[in-house]
Amino acid sequence: MYPLRRNRRLRTNEAIRSLVRETVITPNDFLVPLFVVEGKGIKDEIASMPNYFRYSLDLLEGEIKELWSLGLKSVLLFVKVPDHLKDNKGTEALNPNGLMQRAIKTIKNVCPDMLVMTDVALDPYSSFGHDGIVQNGMIINDESAAVLSQMALTHAQAGADFVAPSDMNDGRTLQIRQLLENEGFKNTGIMSYSAKYASAFYGPFRDALDSAPVDLVDVPKDKKTYQMDCGNRIEAIRETLMDIDEGSDIVMVKPGLSYLDILRDIKNEVDVPVAVYQVSGEYAMIKAAAEKGWLNHDEVMMETTMAFKRAGADIIASYFAKDVVKILNG
Ligand code: PBG
Repeated sequence: MYPLRRNRRLRTNEAIRSLVRETVITPNDFLVPLFVVEGKGIKDEIASMPNYFRYSLDLLEGEIKELWSLGLKSVLLFVKVPDHLKDNKGTEALNPNGLMQRAIKTIKNVCPDMLVMTDVALDPYSSFGHDGIVQNGMIINDESAAVLSQMALTHAQAGADFVAPSDMNDGRTLQIRQLLENEGFKNTGIMSYSAKYASAFYGPFRDALDSAPVDLVDVPKDKKTYQMDCGNRIEAIRETLMDIDEGSDIVMVKPGLSYLDILRDIKNEVDVPVAVYQVSGEYAMIKAAAEKGWLNHDEVMMETTMAFKRAGADIIASYFAKDVVKILNG
């Protein structure tokens, strides 16, 4: 009781604050999302994601070396697919010589120890901008999951360490695990986007990859029939436990900041590592406010990063990873 207990004693200066701080961020916490494009000599800034870039494979090499030198040892790959290669079946997603498959090999060539994770969903490859196959105005579940498992296999064959299904079709994790096992990829891991919400915070990402759902009759305008409803908590736990039963090594909550309660619930519930994704819209929001001088960029960045760790994240996928680590490294 006051005055015997004065909590402010532990806040007197930075030395005591850092001595008693419960949560610590290190470079080991991060998974770095990377956007890859065809071509040569390309480092393209994404309009709605200031200071974030799409790289062609030749320039990706330098970026990988820089990440490694900063202590960032894991990347999550996304590719921008040219329109003429898109269809409704994910044909190009299965091309053993496609951009994703070459990106994996490029990274393993320049930096064999870099952990490579790959996004597994059809949206960048889909002429309709959906994560699965569209039929009669629906995303058909089992057929989509089957194609995604084939897609994941090509990533494993190209050398990916982990595949990350981000589609939210039922049973995709099991189909992927079974195919990987049958084909001898016993050590290829699965990080499932388990509690992935149908969120408006993915907007800038869809600009980056030109992957937004198209506006056509008989094509759903949003992803609400497969991604989760923003109002649900219990369902997030069910989704996550099912993914673990189906073979997920790591589970993920996405987006981050608006779903910290879900992150904590899941952390308390499961015994596998839990990742969180601070998504493109969260990044854009901070960048925009900082550009206007309304928020302090670095302080808000560090505070949100700390919030993920405190809420229970073992892994943080973040477009801020490099900037955070530069601050940590002094
Ligand atoms: C693909 C995918 C998306 C994101 C990651 N994987 C977009 C979506 O589901 O529409 C979003 C990431 C971000 O916004 O940073 N399924």
